[in-house]
Amino acid sequence: MAPNVELLQQKHNLDLHHAPTGLIDAKDIGTPDAHVSRDPNITRLTGKHPLNAETPIPLLMDHGFITPNSLHIVRNHGPVPQNQWDNHSITISGLVNKPVTITMDDILQLPSHTLPVTICCAGNRRKEQNMIKPSIGFSWGPGGVGTAYYTGVFLRDLINEVAGGLKPEALHICMEGNDNTAKGGYGTSITVNRAMSPEFDVLIAYKMNGEPLPYDHGYPVRCIVPGCIGGRSVKWLSKIEVSTQVSQNPFQNADNKVFPPTVLSADQATEENWWTNPDYSVYDLNVNGVVAAPYHGSKVALDDLNKNITLNGFAYGGSNRKVTRCEITLDDGKTWKLADIIDKKSEGDRYASEHYGYDKSKYPESYNQTRYWTWVHWSIEIPIADLLGVQEICLRCWNETNSVMPKDLNWSLMGMLNNCWYRVKLHLIRDPTLSLIFQHPTTLPGDTTQLGNTLPGWMEENQAEATAAASAAAPPKKTLFSADELKTFTLQEVEKHISEDDCWLIYDNLVYDCTPFLEAHPGGASSILLAAGTDCTEEFDAIHSQKAKDMLTDYLIGKLEVKRQASPPPTPPSEMDQVETTKSIDPSSGVVKSYFDPRKWKKLVLQKKEHMSATIRRFTFAIPQDVSQDCILSLPTGLHLFIKLPEDINDTSAKPKMVMRAYTPSKVNTRTIEFVIKVYFPFNSVPGGKLTTSLDQIRLGETVDFKGPVGEIQYLGDGEFNIHNKLYHDIDQIGMVAGGTGITPMWQLIQAALQDSVKRPFMSLIYCARSIDEIIFYKELKQLECDRLRVRLVLSEVPDDGSWTGGTGRFTMEELQQYLFPFSDSTSRLAFLCGPDPMLTHCCLPLLKEAYGDNFCANSVFTF
Ligand code: MTE
Repeated sequence: MAPNVELLQQKHNLDLHHAPTGLIDAKDIGTPDAHVSRDPNITRLTGKHPLNAETPIPLLMDHGFITPNSLHIVRNHGPVPQNQWDNHSITISGLVNKPVTITMDDILQLPSHTLPVTICCAGNRRKEQNMIKPSIGFSWGPGGVGTAYYTGVFLRDLINEVAGGLKPEALHICMEGNDNTAKGGYGTSITVNRAMSPEFDVLIAYKMNGEPLPYDHGYPVRCIVPGCIGGRSVKWLSKIEVSTQVSQNPFQNADNKVFPPTVLSADQATEENWWTNPDYSVYDLNVNGVVAAPYHGSKVALDDLNKNITLNGFAYGGSNRKVTRCEITLDDGKTWKLADIIDKKSEGDRYASEHYGYDKSKYPESYNQTRYWTWVHWSIEIPIADLLGVQEICLRCWNETNSVMPKDLNWSLMGMLNNCWYRVKLHLIRDPTLSLIFQHPTTLPGDTTQLGNTLPGWMEENQAEATAAASAAAPPKKTLFSADELKTFTLQEVEKHISEDDCWLIYDNLVYDCTPFLEAHPGGASSILLAAGTDCTEEFDAIHSQKAKDMLTDYLIGKLEVKRQASPPPTPPSEMDQVETTKSIDPSSGVVKSYFDPRKWKKLVLQKKEHMSATIRRFTFAIPQDVSQDCILSLPTGLHLFIKLPEDINDTSAKPKMVMRAYTPSKVNTRTIEFVIKVYFPFNSVPGGKLTTSLDQIRLGETVDFKGPVGEIQYLGDGEFNIHNKLYHDIDQIGMVAGGTGITPMWQLIQAALQDSVKRPFMSLIYCARSIDEIIFYKELKQLECDRLRVRLVLSEVPDDGSWTGGTGRFTMEELQQYLFPFSDSTSRLAFLCGPDPMLTHCCLPLLKEAYGDNFCANSVFTF
């Protein structure tokens, strides 16, 4: 009988047909995840895409036992599939008595269960490992963990009720998602014993905290394996195959391993067959705990030594093990103080029963009393006086098997399951009163402290020392192949692979096929294409972190023949190509005429440096005399140039460490090219911007390297754009919102569009700056204002004399509605944004969405 979907939906009391939607973060626009709503407060760990994010510890603690879906840790290996409830299915095959494909509505007919589960990535706290010696995984802080109430059917019910039960020889249940990672759908397996036993509660879940699963967490259905590392809980579940073997999916053997510390490199692991040895696969979590408060960087005044200070945090026992003890030492383990374990679960249960019908009494007490699938919170009061002279507070936690967090960090190649004592350092300062500053081991991008700065973690401070000490023993870059197994390519062969469908590059004498990563690259496809077919070792190092290097390994295809062959000179483009390139955003566009070359660095001499404000500089570089005028003026509008400099301009060594970033020129003359750039100076212990501080130290007459153009948004003239390789014709209104130095691409666009003669789009610019001094091109913009260009300036600090006639304070809906498209209605409008991330994410995009709707934002709003 066909299921009565309406009744089922009513029974489940929500619209499961749609994943929860909400605001789209600016960072996701133009990526394959542009359909996924994400909270801007999560901490993104690996650039824009795919999303790997953790919850800032203060937020995690504020929310107590239940982590809201929007803040919950996300670990994605590829783009989030745009699944739909109605056409999603799960195929159950292999060693079952009745292989079957089931729909989501079929699943709703089975008895549903709700249970709270803590999901934790095996890499949680990996950054501490990476500080000692780089592992082959990216750095997680301690917030790669969250707890939610999941609703679904038990996997055992699905197998028994729908697939006729298991065949006797069945040993492993392999699961796969329908996400499209570089290695295909993510998959892994658990044992039949775990999957089928009533002791383990393995769930096929379709709700998270009473809502349909959010896209990021597996919409419409995922597996939840309580007590295990998050990596076993397959999202976007589409295949279940019962087998005598563990999953043959590449993620099963090449991921989620803890090897002995003697395994130093992925190559070694391959050569010595460590990957396929099942003994090193991680399933259950181990006992672990984190100090949350006092948060990293908090300051506690020592004004009243009779006061107490509260330390708190969370802990998880791993597997189905109760956390039995959380202890603090102030003397490196000589003595311990017992913290209280706080029963936050009953609070969570109460909330879940009030808000989404969780009924604990549905299960016998014998069940409820034997389930430890979730974290606990702990807390302890310590007299402030006890902290005088203390250098470090350490936490260790125990589980019911008396397993305890070890004192020392145990490094392993994948940096997983790090559970050493959590150490917080204390510093006595006079500021102006005597106070203590609390310093945690590591920090993450965007972390700011109570003091408003970005105090590094103590391990980060030690890193220079630690990495120097460890560099001799640091493992070579990850590869799943041994050097001998790798195919050898000549430079000539590599040079042939330079297109969007076929993009290879060389890093450190190894050859990578980066084609599958083009779409996902946070810096856009064009910046990889710039390097296609070349040895980009130096540039890669200049712009990327260790984690990017780790990511490269997924694309390794071979090694470079050491004796390099001379390559034939590049074939000049045919006339046909030349016509094409002017309309194309391919990095080679403009190559024919432009002085700048996407593949070769050109040196330009710094001719002039003007201080436009305390931090904003205008740098003017001279174009060599012998370069013809056309070559410069053909620089495509909207694209950027890479600037490369030594990180330390006083480094006179043969191979100084380089840094490189992309900037939009603000003005291109026949003889000069200008860049307006904000210099990020160091502040307290916050390091300054690497490139901008170096650039600021360049003296007149010295040279800087340039390469390009690069970018995804190009104005072709006469109302025509090429954006992410798609042409937009006949645009008659261009709305722009710029913040701070984000004005530069707009400024280029305005100047180009004012020259149009055939189709002449109307333009409007809303430009937000802190003060009148920080409005770049103030006079120039005023002069250009005309019937075709409206400019609205919004200042957060206006002059006292009452002379200011522009907008004041924040950028509001009123400003947007009045000034973004001030011209009569039109259907061919595009909006462009450029400015600081928080301004775009918290202000512009929500307002644009409210004013013009989701569709407009998804298709007609672009961020430079
Ligand atoms: N399932 C699929 N299909 N694709 C993935 O990338 N990541 C795994 C697991 N399931 C992953 C997946 C990993 S490593 C973890 S830690 C958890 O999902 C994270 O689940 P969450 O993003 O819902 O917190």
